Amino acid sequence: MHYREFYGLNMDPFNNVPDLRFYYPGNLYSRIYTRLMRVAQEGRGLAVLTGKVGTGKTTMARQLLYLLRGNRTLQTGLLVLMHSEFEPGWLVKRIAGLIGINEIPNEKTDALAVVTKKLLKYDQENKHTVILIDEANKMVNPDQLEEVRGFLNLEKGDRRLVTFILFGTSELLDNVKSNQSLSQRVIMRLTLKLMDFESTIKYIRHRLSVAGARRDVFAKDSYNLIYRYTKGNPRVTNALCDNVLFEGALANYQVITPSLVEEVAMMLGFEKEV
Ligand SMILES: Nc1ncnc2c1ncn2[C@@H]1O[C@H](COP(=O)(O)OP(=O)(O)OP(=O)(O)O)[C@@H](O)[C@H]1O
Ligand SMILES: [Mg+2]
Repeated sequence: MHYREFYGLNMDPFNNVPDLRFYYPGNLYSRIYTRLMRVAQEGRGLAVLTGKVGTGKTTMARQLLYLLRGNRTLQTGLLVLMHSEFEPGWLVKRIAGLIGINEIPNEKTDALAVVTKKLLKYDQENKHTVILIDEANKMVNPDQLEEVRGFLNLEKGDRRLVTFILFGTSELLDNVKSNQSLSQRVIMRLTLKLMDFESTIKYIRHRLSVAGARRDVFAKDSYNLIYRYTKGNPRVTNALCDNVLFEGALANYQVITPSLVEEVAMMLGFEKEV
C-alpha cells in the first residue's frame, strides 16, 4: 500500500517538484514575493534573487510567473538556463520566443530589430514586458550579461521596455558585480534564507493539509528533530518527510515519532546539526 492511502492523503505531500498547489506562502517567501511583484508591476528594470541550493528560487519564479501572467498590463515569460554556452544573440532569440515572435531572424541585429518592434508595440498597448530568468548564475560569460544590460537600455520616453528578475545561486551576484553598468541597474538584491523552526513546522503541516491530511501525522516532538536534520531547507525537508512517511506506513506507525525520524534520517545519511 502506498503511504498516501495509509495516512489518508489524496496526493504526495512531499514530492520534490515546484508544484504550485503546494506553495507555502510563509513570511520568508511572501516578503520576497511582494517585493519582486513590485519590481515587475512597476517596471523597475532589474532585480536579483539569490539563495542556496534547494531554498525555493525556482518555486518562487514559477509562483511569480503564474500570478504575473494573470495581470493584463504585463507580458511575462520565464527562461530557464540549462547550460553556460551561449552563442551571441542568445538572449534576443530566447526573448523573441517568449513574447510571441514565431519567425526569428538568424542574424542578431535583425532579431533585435524585430524584438524591439514587438516590445514597442506592447508598450503602446500599455503592456510592460517582464522576463524572469531562472538558473541565471549560468550566465558566466560577460557577453551574456552584457546582453541583459543592452535590453535594459531600451526605453520609450521615460519608460523601460523590459524588466528582468534573475534567480540563481550566489555566483550570480558576483557575475553581475563584474559588470559595473549592469550592477548599478540592480534595483533590488534579495536573498532566500532557510526556514526557521516555526516555519518548518508550518511548511510541513501546510503541505500535508494540501495533500488532504485531516489530522497531525507527525507527533509534536518529532518536528524538532526534523528541523535539526533539514536546517529549514525545503528540498531536504521534503526528502526527509517523504521517506519518514514511507517507512512509517511500512512499520504501521499512525503517528510519526521522533525515534522513527531518527532511524530514517540515519539510515538515509541525513546529517544532523549538533
Ligand atoms: N515556498 C514554497 N512552498 C512550497 N514548497 C516549496 C517552497 N519553496 C521550495 N519548495 C519545495 O522545495 C523544493 C526545492 O525548491 P526549488 O526547486 O524552488 O529550489 P531552488 O532554490 O530553485 O533549488 P536549486 O538551487 O537546486 O535550483 C521544491 O521542489 C518545492 O517542492
Ligand atoms: Mg532552481
